[in-house]
Amino acid sequence: MKIIRVKNQQEGGVVSFKMIKENIENKKADTLGLATGSTPETLYQEMVKSDLDFSHMTSINLDEYVGLAATDPQSYHYFMEKHLFEEKPFKESFLPDGLAKDGKAECERYDEIINTHPVDIQILGIGENGHIGFNEPGSSFEGTTSVVDLTESTIEANSRNFDNIEDVPTKAYSMGIRSIMQAKKIILLAYGPKKAQAILDTIEGPVTEDVPASVLQNHSDVTIIVDEEASRLLSK
Ligand code: GLP
Repeated sequence: MKIIRVKNQQEGGVVSFKMIKENIENKKADTLGLATGSTPETLYQEMVKSDLDFSHMTSINLDEYVGLAATDPQSYHYFMEKHLFEEKPFKESFLPDGLAKDGKAECERYDEIINTHPVDIQILGIGENGHIGFNEPGSSFEGTTSVVDLTESTIEANSRNFDNIEDVPTKAYSMGIRSIMQAKKIILLAYGPKKAQAILDTIEGPVTEDVPASVLQNHSDVTIIVDEEASRLLSK
């Protein structure tokens, strides 16, 4: 694992964008795995500001809330439109369909998309409990796309984006850990004091399903970009 310490989220956006840009310009990245949440926002700002064109590229997102339409302002579809795709459209962009009638069929559809569009660079944030995508602690490292019951801590953490905690969906579609690990390159971003314990466990703890992100220790090309607060518990 390569660890890059940055001053703050702003600098993290600049540094991660530079890595992605180099790979795109060297024709090493055609498909990006994208994440939502506040963490990747500064990366998307850099992408939007740039003169790069993504219209020949494919994007695949990690997850979507069950029950939310793509037009719902709380959905991850909407987030991606507003933060990136409206300004920088891709050739094709995939997210799970929150309104799919048949959850199992939707998971199979999404796995097929992932298998036919291998991800070159996967962007990840991390939950306070070490989750990646919506793969909560205890998720199998062999998992593919599934419908996940969100933990109370995730519902509470994500409730800041909703008017009431009762409005936060309790289930989500999430790409599985096995699929995330198939990306050629992974960039995990983490900022702020609330991520410090998860970052310590991810980098220095044992590889365990109790800390989903710890699986990244088994991947050969992972870069973790952390700010001062998120890295403050690291020993080295
Ligand atoms: C959600 C998303 C994750 C994200 C996490 C952290 O649970 N499913 O992909 O990493 O939130 O969000 P934030 O970046 O807002 O802290």
